[in-house]
Amino acid sequence: MWEKEIQVARQAAREAGIVLKRLFGQVSQIEKKGEIDLVTEADLQSEKIILDIISRHFPRDSILAEEAGEFNHLSDRLWIVDPLDGTTNFAHRFPVFAISIALEIEDELVLGLVNSPCTNEEFEAVKGTGAFLNKKPLRVSQTKTLKDSLLVTGFPYDVHENPHRVIEMFQKMIVRAQGVRRPGSAVIDLCYVAAGIFDGFWEERLKPWDTAAGAIIVSEAGGKVTTYKGNPFTPHLKSIVAANPHIHEAMLEALNS
Ligand code: IPD
Ligand code: CA
Ligand code: CA
Repeated sequence: MWEKEIQVARQAAREAGIVLKRLFGQVSQIEKKGEIDLVTEADLQSEKIILDIISRHFPRDSILAEEAGEFNHLSDRLWIVDPLDGTTNFAHRFPVFAISIALEIEDELVLGLVNSPCTNEEFEAVKGTGAFLNKKPLRVSQTKTLKDSLLVTGFPYDVHENPHRVIEMFQKMIVRAQGVRRPGSAVIDLCYVAAGIFDGFWEERLKPWDTAAGAIIVSEAGGKVTTYKGNPFTPHLKSIVAANPHIHEAMLEALNS
């Protein structure tokens, strides 16, 4: 099921990935959407490629894309696109960024595809069929305790105005985990949870395009994905905890302590 859709997502992300790789280290136009929220010509070119390909193959579907916003609200099939997750990394030539494409049908995620051009990693999942990295099956880690876990998180763009809560959550985790990382791409954070590299991820005030594809990839790799309160996750909710099932509850307890 959704064979054509995953193929189109793959093709769109690969073509966008070629352009991102070409522009990496070359960007000259960097604009600010907020005080620390950047947009470069790479975000815009990547998004144009992806939207052109999706709308050529599925002209009736709705699309929600980070830079273009939402269009065609009539369809119950919604493509959710982040053309460049990790823009700050990209602008500074730190090679951790990815393209993220998900499809939601009647408010349920059915596929996710993430392409990391610098590492040649292509993560994908279709609902009910497992998660894969370059066609090899993925499984979350088996780590049993937070003390043995490597966790990952990120900070929202309004952190200058509202730093306290984020720092409080960070503090709760660093005193419990083996280690905490902040690489700067939520979709890669999620895919690395699916791959068992990180044991768990938490973040708040994210947008649908930051989490949609990664969330289904983690679920299909056997992980548990909820809000901070433990409610079932959808990309339209503002907090996410994605982890292996052994440590997920301990992460919720820590965040809510
Ligand atoms: C950002 C990254 C980052 C996360 C931010 C996101 P962008 O997305 O995913 O890791 O901490 O909250 O907004 O702006 O690079 O697409
Ligand atoms: Ca993003
Ligand atoms: Ca982005």
